[in-house]
Amino acid sequence: MLAIEIKNLTKEYAVGFWKKQWRPALKSLNLTVEAGETFGFLGPNGAGKTTTLKLLMGIIFPTSGSATILGKDFLDPEVKRRIGFLPEQPYFYDYLSAPELLDYYARLSGVPAPVRKQRIGELLGRVGLADVGNKQLRKFSKGMLQRVGIAQAIIHDPEVVFLDEPMSGLDPVGRHEVRELIQSLKDAGKTIFFSTHILSDAEALCDRVAVIHKGELRGVGVVNDFRSSLAEKTEVIWLGATALSAVNSLLAEVHVTGDTVRGTVQSGDLDRLLEKLRQQGARLISVMPVQRTLEDYFLAKTREEEKEAVTL
Ligand SMILES: Nc1ncnc2c1ncn2[C@@H]1O[C@H](COP(=O)(O)OP(=O)(O)O)[C@@H](O)[C@H]1O
Ligand SMILES: [Mg+2]
Repeated sequence: MLAIEIKNLTKEYAVGFWKKQWRPALKSLNLTVEAGETFGFLGPNGAGKTTTLKLLMGIIFPTSGSATILGKDFLDPEVKRRIGFLPEQPYFYDYLSAPELLDYYARLSGVPAPVRKQRIGELLGRVGLADVGNKQLRKFSKGMLQRVGIAQAIIHDPEVVFLDEPMSGLDPVGRHEVRELIQSLKDAGKTIFFSTHILSDAEALCDRVAVIHKGELRGVGVVNDFRSSLAEKTEVIWLGATALSAVNSLLAEVHVTGDTVRGTVQSGDLDRLLEKLRQQGARLISVMPVQRTLEDYFLAKTREEEKEAVTL
């Protein structure tokens, strides 16, 4: 079943002093997310990620296009009850405590009074804030606030959770905590749609990713495919810089540090390279396939247009 289906979603903002010019922030986006999937929405700053999430949440309205969430029109009030949202840099009332804030959101989301208190207690435990007591939110670290934000997003046990840059601005410990929290939502079978520009987080958590750049979808890929795809290149490190002249023509890239050489070959040339190195009496240190990473994919997708510009 599809959890999210985005159809030709387009948003233009009025810009300029007189607001007479229209600038597209999102250009006819088409995207589907399966139920139970963890989907990463990747793109550099200004790509259109927040715009997409705000559109899906009904915070702003599309210039054209539409979407369905859980099979219903995305603006259907019933959809709201079944989804949760963590905005980018959420702002909470400084002088509330975490239980007070969550109680407020629980009421807003229609969590019935008899279960509210228990639900809040459980949730605080789940996001690692069981012992914050009545400490005010203004005394919370950024990581703690982000966890309160996620608790707020899942207080009504939604089926689909939307998170806008959940790890940005966090230190490594905070990022790790938020990552674990998202992993636990994933394990609980939730559909998760999150935007990020931190590729390692996307790589660790996502089943699939989409890359968006300048309002355009540049590609959609399965994260495991990046890892399992056969390496096209292999990196070979050896001791013996004198062997270089005999093998130079085989190497796609080469770095020499003293007597240590790090060279990259097309995998088809690997046997010939190793043979020649043996003949030259070089000492092998390592042979490693160069895996395509999410970063390569991301860079390729966000640079495509620059390459096109060069070739034109
Ligand atoms: N309210 C707005 N008015 C005009 N332009 C906007 C507005 N919000 C965002 N934009 C522009 O739309 C583009 C996409 O922004 P955004 O969706 O926030 O990107 P991201 O979240 O990927 O960093 C940017 O060029 C941004 O300047
Ligand atoms: Mg954003």
